[in-house]
Amino acid sequence: MHGTKVCSNIVASQDVHITYGGVVPELASRAHQQNIVPVVDHALKVANIKPEQLSAVAFTNGPGLMGSLMVGTSFAKSLALALDIPLIAVHHMHAHILAHLIEDAHNEPLTFPFLCLTVSGGHTQLVQVNGPKDMNILGETIDDAVGEAFDKAAKILGLPYPGGPHIDRLAKNGDPKALKFARPNLANYDFSFSGLKTSFLYTLQTKMKEDDAFIADNLPDICASYQSALIDALMIKVKKAVKDTGIQNVAIAGGVSANSELRNTLKKWGHINGISIFVPPFEYTTDNAAMIGVAGYFNFLAGEKTSLSTSAKAKIKF
Ligand code: KG4
Ligand code: ZN
Repeated sequence: MHGTKVCSNIVASQDVHITYGGVVPELASRAHQQNIVPVVDHALKVANIKPEQLSAVAFTNGPGLMGSLMVGTSFAKSLALALDIPLIAVHHMHAHILAHLIEDAHNEPLTFPFLCLTVSGGHTQLVQVNGPKDMNILGETIDDAVGEAFDKAAKILGLPYPGGPHIDRLAKNGDPKALKFARPNLANYDFSFSGLKTSFLYTLQTKMKEDDAFIADNLPDICASYQSALIDALMIKVKKAVKDTGIQNVAIAGGVSANSELRNTLKKWGHINGISIFVPPFEYTTDNAAMIGVAGYFNFLAGEKTSLSTSAKAKIKF
């Protein structure tokens, strides 16, 4: 990064997860260990920057999978020590949100305050963002994350991991009203997806008893109906937050913000109601280096420096 400008954004794909139908923590750590040096090397080459020209090293210390976080933390510490430059820890979820502040992420600048629906494989949060260093969670999931709800349903359907993009693709040719799934709705801004996942499983079990080709014959309809239930559950809270706070700027972040139906639904609703909607460019939706870089830049501006004795954490206060 150069300020909020991206000089390179290299992401190593971890195909190992496809083979096992999910993330195996041990294998994820190994893949991180194998990839980290070549990826950093490649990023510097693409940016045409020598290590000695760097001003600071940003990394995420969590929340996330412990083994993978430890690889990144250890590497970042060593690099900062070797170059004698500041080390800057970044909160993974802050970074998903701050990806919106990357230069050229939007045609129109996103102004504060804004509401951000952060939807990933591990988190589902509705956040009020007053500034790069001033944000608070209005509500979050009390059980599964929405990305997890996509991935678990996809597994039941026999689709590859991660299942979210496959459900998205198949749903394009399906009828969202073909099957009915219970819409969860808690009283406040919190979300719950475990009931919806169970309703999905039971509905399919019943249908398969009647017709054992049901899944194979109705895949697009099943995907469209389930996806529509997930999106409804998210939209209810976004609408409530806009009504209650009066905030007119709404952004989405995290892996699930790549979902085409979620993006379209939000944009349509925003257009009708005069709300400005900010969807991130695809390269900044799923986990990426640029979002850590931009969040690191704002921590750097705020004068934050992380001790070389810091450690990774699976859970970190927002
Ligand atoms: O933010 P992310 O890359 O990793 C975490 O921090 O968890 O999010 C990964 C999640 C996975 O659950 C994946 O299925 C989901 O994002 N995802 C999608 C789409 N693309 C990625 N879900 C629905 N539709 C998509 N197009
Ligand atoms: Zn993430």
